[in-house]
Formats: sequence, structure tokens, C-alpha cells
Amino acid sequence: ATERTLSIIKPDAVAKNAIGEIYSRFEKAGLKIVAAKMQQLSREKAEGFYAEHKERPFFGDLVGFMTSGPVMVQVLEGEGAIAKNRELMGATNPKEAEPGTIRADFAESIDANAVHGSDAPASAEREIAYFFGNDELCPR
Ligand code: CMP
Repeated sequence: ATERTLSIIKPDAVAKNAIGEIYSRFEKAGLKIVAAKMQQLSREKAEGFYAEHKERPFFGDLVGFMTSGPVMVQVLEGEGAIAKNRELMGATNPKEAEPGTIRADFAESIDANAVHGSDAPASAEREIAYFFGNDELCPR
């Protein structure tokens, strides 16, 4: 089915000037960018986004990293978009990511891992609504 998923290009990949290369991977895989914005996340915005990880030992570092510079946030649309985006990203830990994936090519560590992508339909819906209003989504 046609799905939408939330994607974030994290501060490390934005700082590397890799937005265009990463967008190109989405588009070559048949995913359409139907909403996008660049944002400097506040601590509150980052904490709310990652609320499910609040009790994890890496939460403080994660929020610190995600607020360390601007991020590029987009909604990707396409057939099986959630799984397709996760395939393109590769494993959370770049050391375990398959060659040719975004994380294998652009990420340095499990914290600075270049991209985020929703992991399931329910989280995609929540995460898209966390960043975008309905009037900001442009289906093509
Ligand atoms: P992301 O998909 O954005 O979701 C949570 C992030 O926490 C994850 O990517 C990683 O960048 C970061 N993180 C840091 N340590 C861990 C860990 N041990 N397990 C999972 N995620 C981690």
C-alpha cells in the first residue's frame, strides 16, 4: 500500500552537506518528498519527539546531539515507504549497516547516525503530525 513515513536528516549529515545526496537516494528508490522543512530543534521539541526513549541511558546524549545543529525533516510517500526508507538507511549502528546504505556511507556512530526513519505505521502517523500540519503535506 502507499504509505507515508517521517524522515530526519540529522545534524551530522546536514553539516556534511549531504542533504542532496540523501534526497537523491530517496527519489531513486521511488519515494516522493511530499513535505519538508529545515529546523533547529529546541530541547523541548527533541525530547518530545524521542519521548519513548526517555528512560534509556542514551537519552541525554541523543537530545544533545539532535539539538547540536539544524536538521532536515521530510515526509516520504510511496509503496511500502516505511520499510523502504529503513532499507535505504541501514542498521541503527553504522558499524552494522549494509554497504551502500545511507548510514554505512554517511554515519560515524550510533549517536551521529545521519538519519532517522519511522519504524511502523503508528509511529509514522505520530511523527508526521509532530512536525507537519495537514496543510503542509502535498501529495503528488
Ligand atoms: P533513531 O532512529 O533516531 O532513534 C533513536 C536514536 O537513538 C537512534 O536513531 C540512535 O541514533 C540513538 N541511539 C544511541 N544509542 C542507542 C542505542 N543503544 N540503541 C538505539 N538507539 C541508540
